This record gives sequence, C-alpha cells and structure tokens, in this order.
Amino acid sequence: MRQNIVAGNWKMNKTVQEGVELAKDINSRVEAIDPKCQIILGTPFVHITEVVKTVKSDKIAVAAQNCADKVSGAYTGEVSAAMVKSTGAKYVILGHSERRAYYGENNAILKEKTDLALANDLLPIFCVGEVLSERESNKHFDVVKSQIEEALFHLSAEAFGKIVLAYEPVWAIGTGKTASPAQAQEIHAFIRGLVAGKYGKEVANNVSILYGGSCNAKNAKELFSNPDVDGGLIGGASLKAEDFLSIITAF
Ligand code: PGA
Repeated sequence: MRQNIVAGNWKMNKTVQEGVELAKDINSRVEAIDPKCQIILGTPFVHITEVVKTVKSDKIAVAAQNCADKVSGAYTGEVSAAMVKSTGAKYVILGHSERRAYYGENNAILKEKTDLALANDLLPIFCVGEVLSERESNKHFDVVKSQIEEALFHLSAEAFGKIVLAYEPVWAIGTGKTASPAQAQEIHAFIRGLVAGKYGKEVANNVSILYGGSCNAKNAKELFSNPDVDGGLIGGASLKAEDFLSIITAF
C-alpha cells in the first residue's frame, strides 16, 4: 500500500549500544509528534533485536540492510531472510548501490534475495539507480529499467505489491549532491510508468517510491512535495536524531 516513508540507512555505523541510544532518542521524539509517515530504521544485523525492543512507537519499524541469497546452510558469515525475520525486523533493504558495487550483487542475485525476503514475510526496500557516467550519457532510464525488470518483474502482482522502491542515483549518495526535485520527479514518474506497463495502473499507484542520495533537512520538503516521490531513504542524516526528525517532519 502506498504510503509516505522516511527510512534511515545506518550503513556500517554505530555500536549496538550507540544504536540503541539513537533508536531511543528517535522513538521519544517521534512519540512527541504525530508523524505523517511510516518511519523505518535500517540497522546493522547485530543491532536489530535490541532496536526492535527499544522502539515503542507503532510508527517505527526496523529493517535489515541485506539478507542472503541462499536459504540456509554452509555459507559462513551470511544472514538468511528467515533469521532476519526472526529478529522482529519488518523490512529488508536490498540492492543498495554499495552492495552492488562492493559485494558484486547483480540483478540475478537480487532476484533470489527478493524471493527469499518475500517468502519469509519481509518487505523489501529495493534500491535502484545509475552511476554518474550513465546519467551523463543519458542511460539512466535504461539502467533503472533493467534493474527493476531483471530483479522484480518475475513477481506476481500481489507479491510486487509488497515492494517499496528506492531510487538512489549513485552520484548523489554521500556526496552532498542531490538530484534536483525535477530530476527526481522525472525518474520516479518513469519508474511508476514502468510498473504500470507491467502490472497496471492500480499496482503502480500503490507502490511507494523513495528518493535517496544526500537527502537532508534542507531539501527533503521540496523533494517530497513531488507527486511521485513518496519519501526518502536517508544515509548520513539518519545518524543523528535531530537531523532525522527534521526529515520526518518534512511531510
Ligand atoms: P546518503 O545515503 O543520504 O548519505 O547520501 C543514502 C543511502 O545510501 O541510502
């Protein structure tokens, strides 16, 4: 179901104790307001159980930042979708550009991860986005199209309805460069059109599409005011409660 979402992606930051403190702080600030969006905290695996216990607000859910592409067994160091589910996490971030770039995750692997997440009742926040050279050579539409088609378009309409999409231009992540509101709207509308072409208008109108990449207190309002931008996936600005709250209250 389409909803406004502000999701934090803590990446590989904070010890468990620091993460619990941050979650506590966010929770108490959220409980003091009436947020107009679903809030998600994307924490490292080892934080999830404690963070789930810490957040009391029903407006806040917890996400993992990844899960394995295998069910179980001899895969040292991996964490399965079933394990993630058993922590109390509700969402899982999949296909983040850092995982694609540094850990070799391609569309075929992400297809497996998506299937396992859904089979274990986790809601994927599925990231797509182009690198700078692709944007500069006007290939961004094609890149995003194949990322979505190859990893997600085998799903039934019902299964696809559980996906949250996040458009994150790689050149904007952690760089302080943000896509302009017009650039974000243009590609979000393209993505929604792609979904409409495959699954029909109703499914397309019901998918939440988040923007990510140097989204902060200053630019969130303008980005979120676009008709096809349903919120944000926030990295750096999700690591301080005050900054994160100012993005949440941009709705
Ligand atoms: P950023 O990261 O907000 O620090 O640019 C966003 C993301 O990678 O999800």
